[in-house]
Amino acid sequence: MSAWQHVALMQQADTLSAQESNLVNSLAISHIPVQQLQSCGFRFILRYEKQGLTLYSTHADAPGGLCVDFASRDLQRRRKESLKAQNLGKALGLKSLRYPVILDATAGLGTDSFLFSAAGCQVVMLERNPLVHALLADGLDRAANTDGVLRDITERMRLQQEDFLHARLDTDAFDVVYLDPMFPAKKKSAKSGKGMFLLQQLVADSADEIMMLQRAMQLARKRVVVKRAKLSPTIGELRPDISFIGSSNRFDVYLS
Ligand SMILES: C[S@@+](CC[C@H](N)C(=O)[O-])C[C@H]1O[C@@H](n2cnc3c(N)ncnc32)[C@H](O)[C@@H]1O
Repeated sequence: MSAWQHVALMQQADTLSAQESNLVNSLAISHIPVQQLQSCGFRFILRYEKQGLTLYSTHADAPGGLCVDFASRDLQRRRKESLKAQNLGKALGLKSLRYPVILDATAGLGTDSFLFSAAGCQVVMLERNPLVHALLADGLDRAANTDGVLRDITERMRLQQEDFLHARLDTDAFDVVYLDPMFPAKKKSAKSGKGMFLLQQLVADSADEIMMLQRAMQLARKRVVVKRAKLSPTIGELRPDISFIGSSNRFDVYLS
């Protein structure tokens, strides 16, 4: 049984709201009243809170809840920094391609896609894990209901719940395909960061990176960018044309 099937929604009242009911049906998960939380035995709990859909782990070492919040202070600061001047922007080729159309084939919590869109790019995001997809979709919905910059940025981000290896995609639609399939080596503690800690528990690492790179190379009109940990090996035998190496990450670029 995969991890996301150990998930339940904690309902806010005796009966489910329409929003709760939609989620329970679309994820095919159980729902429990708050009184049963201690004895429920689920590994993850979802809950609609004031700030949005929030995921908790019931693991003893777990940090607080995880919610996709594009209005967070961290993302607001990062969206104002020039992506062009950073390794990620250089790897995407923002100087020469200007506003490439990007396929983020492994969207996760949408942080990288948000930065691409904040730099003016159109982004299509694919996420295969239904729970991660639900968290991201909720974050996008809330951002779409704000005024101003945040709404403009998320209007350029389109999310699909699909596996990149099986999705029907237009072969001429994307300048850049971006892959960030792997989490860093699994850490047992919440110190690795709230988002990472919860996602490491929830999401299986991709065992099919080589096929992902091959598919990305077939689709990208200009380039494929792969995010790796600084010292990780490249995917398969194919050598990247350029690598941009930072303090903890590396971006390998394969030109089409
Ligand atoms: C390291 S996370 C991506 C983090 C993301 N770059 C961000 O900024 O939040 C990897 C994500 O890719 C997803 N994933 C892995 N293989 C996939 C595939 N073949 N198709 C779609 N999503 C995939 C996983 O479910 C996981 O959520």
